[in-house]
Amino acid sequence: MSRSALLPRTAPFGDGERASLDAVLVNATPVQRAWLAGFLAGLDAAAQPQAAAAGAPKASEPLTVIYASESGNSEKLANDIGKLARKQGFKPKVVDFADLDIATLPKAGKLVAIAATWGEGEPPARAVRAYGELMGEGAPRLEGVEFAVLSLGDTSYAEFCAIGKALDARFEALGGKRAAERIDLDLDFEKPAADWIKATLKALAPAAAQDNVVAVDFARAGGDEDAEPNRDPMVVEVVEHVNLNSSRSDKETIHLALAFEDGAPAYEPGDSLELFPENDPQLVDEILAAAGLSGDEALRKALLTERDITTLSPASIERFAKATGSTDAQAFAAGGEARAWVEGRNLIDLIERFPATLTAEHFGTITRPLPPRAYSIASSRKEVGDEVHLAIVAVRYETHGRARSGVASVHVADRIKDGAKLRVRLKPNRHFRLPADPSTDIIMVGPGTGVAPFRAFVQERRATEAPGRAWLFFGDRHFTHDFLYQLEWQEALEDRSLTQIDVAFSRDQPEKIYVQDRIDQHAAEVVAWLDGGAHFYVCGDAKRMAKDVRAAVVRAFETAKGLSSADAEAHVAGLERAKRYQQDVY
Ligand SMILES: Cc1cc2nc3c(=O)[nH]c(=O)nc-3n(C[C@H](O)[C@H](O)[C@H](O)COP(=O)(O)OP(=O)(O)OC[C@H]3O[C@@H](n4cnc5c(N)ncnc54)[C@H](O)[C@@H]3O)c2cc1C
Ligand SMILES: Cc1cc2nc3c(=O)[nH]c(=O)nc-3n(C[C@H](O)[C@H](O)[C@H](O)COP(=O)(O)O)c2cc1C
Repeated sequence: MSRSALLPRTAPFGDGERASLDAVLVNATPVQRAWLAGFLAGLDAAAQPQAAAAGAPKASEPLTVIYASESGNSEKLANDIGKLARKQGFKPKVVDFADLDIATLPKAGKLVAIAATWGEGEPPARAVRAYGELMGEGAPRLEGVEFAVLSLGDTSYAEFCAIGKALDARFEALGGKRAAERIDLDLDFEKPAADWIKATLKALAPAAAQDNVVAVDFARAGGDEDAEPNRDPMVVEVVEHVNLNSSRSDKETIHLALAFEDGAPAYEPGDSLELFPENDPQLVDEILAAAGLSGDEALRKALLTERDITTLSPASIERFAKATGSTDAQAFAAGGEARAWVEGRNLIDLIERFPATLTAEHFGTITRPLPPRAYSIASSRKEVGDEVHLAIVAVRYETHGRARSGVASVHVADRIKDGAKLRVRLKPNRHFRLPADPSTDIIMVGPGTGVAPFRAFVQERRATEAPGRAWLFFGDRHFTHDFLYQLEWQEALEDRSLTQIDVAFSRDQPEKIYVQDRIDQHAAEVVAWLDGGAHFYVCGDAKRMAKDVRAAVVRAFETAKGLSSADAEAHVAGLERAKRYQQDVY
């Protein structure tokens, strides 16, 4: 029987292309078809730079990549390693610390750990259990395991990369063999991380293969396996800029609506948007004046938009001392006081304390690139189309006799108006997601700007007519001045996209009341919702609120069900492992 078409409709070609290919293939002889198949396979093999390279590790060379991540950077790098390793002939397994069974590690053979540090020298929340087990007495021996650690952190924190450092030391103490030196990376980690990954995979490859492991184009290493969002900054226009607090509030929270000219990126409720800020021009001018470089317009522009001039670390003092040759600064950096001194201070304090002749080049050495700031997306595309909404609270404080401003938040509050342009980039967060089943109940705890993603959740559930119940705990200082999005919550209660709201305004009565106190008061109901399958979400302050809320949920299980504190704790840990207790805290 003759056929007019060989290629199925699902073949990855357009209709026209399929017809042309079919015209040739239908009439081709078996010999011609076999030749074509072999020719195309050979062509592809030749185009693969390293996978087929003689001596590359066999595809059976196992590699375990574990990551401890909160906001996704370590997770992204771990996946990058997995993809690149596969191309180089390894058989990689990428495991989140949240799902890690540490008993499997002795069999890992080759192990790469990517770990971020959070809080003040703490592991990311999802990594706490496995990290604790690894550091504990019951951790397995790792003789025969070759390991390498990449740590992510931020030099503006005193405990820079503490978790990566601790893991590196721990693997060695457990008998593992270090295959590559640990690297500790700051916020501008992308390039050095890519270089480290290439070198580390080479070091981990079997000896016979090490000279043949050819570098792969890193950006393309993933192919189409799971398409990643565009990470290039996009320019957006500010179409709404409103202070959500009353004029009598001591806080200022800006609701920003941003319009994307070429369509908003495909964001989901729970994602964040990174904003590329500009430094305060007044501070830049003070720094230039203190450095004797006031007329240097090119440097002024770079300091405004490209360099981080507001964080200081002992390492940056060392770089300053070395670059300027200041013996006073050198003695200070070596003396051990620097770590305490940098707290609450920044570059201007350093230049004033150690006057030195500075050049534009010095600033390039002393400062790091200005990092973008993340903001929880407060909107659903289903409701706002090609816009993204954010809620940004202005950070203003005074330390060491000087008024200080948060770079991004005060840039937005003071210097951005309707019609202004901003550079932004999507930062997805697949660990902070609405339940897949729209009939699942949700409990959301979001004081202050922590409420932002829950505005997105409620918009999404309204737009999709999700039947699940939604309960919001909100808190701030004063009911009359600080009730962010109050009218919208009232409307949501009316249209039933929000079932219940409980508020805690800390300064409206003599004793302070917080969201965790409201959870205590509603313990039985919270437990009933959770027992019924509800998902629990926390967003906002990481230092105290998130910990206090978690403790309140543990207490709720104790009081409502009469569980021991250990059993109640295990219950909440179980919710976390089941991804039913999720947090996005900062
Ligand atoms: C995933 C994620 C989501 C976020 N979502 C939001 C959001 O929706 N809304 C929002 O407003 N923020 C959000 N943030 C926080 C935001 O990214 C910024 O950290 C925040 O706006 C401050 O940035 P800034 O540039 O204004 O301040 P910076 O210039 O970065 O200064 C902040 C630093 O100043 C110092 N500081 C602040 N206050 C004091 C003080 N009283 N005393 C001494 N030192 C102090 C601290 O070192 C602090 O780290 C989020 C953060 C993350 C990681
Ligand atoms: C609230 C907060 C606390 C942080 N604490 C630390 C810290 O104590 N030490 C450190 O080196 N980095 C700290 N960082 C920086 C993170 O480690 C860094 O952003 C890292 O790239 C995050 O990686 P992840 O996305 O995989 O979680 C902190 C960041 C935030 C937002």
